[in-house]
Amino acid sequence: MTDDEVLGRAYDGRLMRRLLTYLRPYRGQVALAIAAIIAHSALDLVPPYLTKIVIDRYIPAADLGGLGTIAALYLAALLASFLLEYLQTWTMQLIGQRIMFDLRMQLVSHLHRLDLKFYDRNPVGRLMTRLTTDVDVLNELFTSGVVSVFGDVFTLVGIMAVLVWMDWRLAIAAFSVLPLIVAVTQWFRVNARESYRTVRTWIARINAYLQERITGMATVQLYRREARDYAAFDDIDRRHRDANVQSIFYYAVFYPAIELVGALAASLILWVGGARILADGGDMLTLGSLVAFLQYSQRFFRPISDLSEKFNILQGAMASSERIFGLLDTPVEIVPGHHRATGGTGSETGATRGKWAGPGVIRFENVSFSYVEGEPVLKNVSFEVRPGERIGIVGATGSGKTTIVSLLLRFYDVQQGRITVDGIDIRELDLADLRSLFGLVLQDVQLFAGTIAGNVRLGDESIADSEVRGALDAVHASSFVDRLPHGLDSVVAERGSTLSVGQKQLLSFARALAFNPRVLVLDEATSSVDTDTELLIRDALKVMMRGRTTIAIAHRLSTIQDMDRILVMHRGELREQGTHQELLALRGIYHRLYELQFESTTA
Ligand SMILES: Nc1ncnc2c1ncn2[C@@H]1O[C@H](COP(=O)(O)OP(=O)(O)O)[C@@H](O)[C@H]1O
Ligand SMILES: [Mg+2]
Repeated sequence: MTDDEVLGRAYDGRLMRRLLTYLRPYRGQVALAIAAIIAHSALDLVPPYLTKIVIDRYIPAADLGGLGTIAALYLAALLASFLLEYLQTWTMQLIGQRIMFDLRMQLVSHLHRLDLKFYDRNPVGRLMTRLTTDVDVLNELFTSGVVSVFGDVFTLVGIMAVLVWMDWRLAIAAFSVLPLIVAVTQWFRVNARESYRTVRTWIARINAYLQERITGMATVQLYRREARDYAAFDDIDRRHRDANVQSIFYYAVFYPAIELVGALAASLILWVGGARILADGGDMLTLGSLVAFLQYSQRFFRPISDLSEKFNILQGAMASSERIFGLLDTPVEIVPGHHRATGGTGSETGATRGKWAGPGVIRFENVSFSYVEGEPVLKNVSFEVRPGERIGIVGATGSGKTTIVSLLLRFYDVQQGRITVDGIDIRELDLADLRSLFGLVLQDVQLFAGTIAGNVRLGDESIADSEVRGALDAVHASSFVDRLPHGLDSVVAERGSTLSVGQKQLLSFARALAFNPRVLVLDEATSSVDTDTELLIRDALKVMMRGRTTIAIAHRLSTIQDMDRILVMHRGELREQGTHQELLALRGIYHRLYELQFESTTA
């Protein structure tokens, strides 16, 4: 069972109090809504009583003027009721939408601060559910739950009071059906709750399944898994449908059953009331009162069924809020330091931010790290990168190369040792300052919805069109960009799916260059590129490395041969370092890697 399926308690005071804090900014509007709801419920009590007056007073007296007055009052009550209901609906929905907005913004800002370890643990589908479905459920609580409960309770109490006041004996007859109501409601509550839980479980599974299969559609089609996938989805979808059908059943029984009990109450009122009118000739109970009683009893049962539905909303909201708060309470593990190394104020973005003040010496000092406790990925790694130096990192897959970069950019924190820039532990640095030092190019390029230019400057308007253009020129991306229908302003399809891998790679180079970083970090940036493009990219790299510190992780040794220094990683340890020639002369790991690649390229 995942936490998407847990429904938990129906009411949790701690959660509720925290939820109510979201109403605080809108307390004026909440007060207005509550006032409108109570006034509306009170008004609801008026029409039956007007009916009674007409029947008992004005019809026997043949008073046409009185009838007119009552008719006008009746109409006025209906109009006022319309206005109040409008006011209540509008205000409640407005508050609900605003709270959803606030909550989503709060969630997104928290997601921005959470570290990659968190994203390793939490699948995209689950986080999406937090920001969409769960927030929607809370909206329902605010728009139709919390506040309108006041209205329902007020209506119930009001009607009961009026009935007892009009004729307590008849009132007891009407209330005698209450145990039946309680039984029906209880049956509905228990079953609806269970089926609500089941429906949600299957919705969560549908989401998770589709998310994975749609993203992996190419693989599904390549391995001809369509029929199997169809069958698997057929099963999930069928259970989802059946769960919904099941819950429809409970609703379909519940509402008519409540009506039935209402009709039972009405017939009791007619019977007992009629008998009482006959017995004392209408002295104790008038005909008008009897009619009013019938009308009140009809209004009595709607809030009861509403309340039991609200109970379900409340239950769903408790579960959703528990998950949402769980996310909001996830501690931020990468705590930014306060040391400012750029002379900036913290409010700048991208290229506008102050430049790193020091020379930019990077040191790893006895760094050890593991993603999973007990499985060390880096062991006691120490090295220094001097300003302007060009460093290559090589090693077998899984030897810890990418991890070195992730630690340097503080996507994760080291567990032992430390990493410094100009002698300052990066954990003491302002995160934005630290990261503004680097331009990172990865093997998988992340493009966002928008234009080519937008993907290069990533929303940093201080990077002028001419600079975007310059960066594209420098990395030889201009020729393909110019062939696109709208040049720089061509729209990039989702995830850049209309561009080739090499083109995306060139764009990411241009992006790194446009931000003009002090240190360029490349992680297998040329591995998945064809030979033609690789030549372009290698040339682009030369341009990019000019005057910058460079740390390049490479799969193909040919790409880093002429680096100033090469670090050789082996099973999480830094085993050799030196120039290409020095390392070859060492006849160690590097030599072996080189021979392997040399053999495979000449074979
Ligand atoms: N996010 C992660 N969670 C757990 N283990 C990881 C994670 N990333 C990498 N690893 C493991 O750490 C080791 C080193 O990975 P990595 O630094 O990516 O190697 P390289 O880049 O040299 O191929 C591998 O054994 C890999 O399985
Ligand atoms: Mg890697």
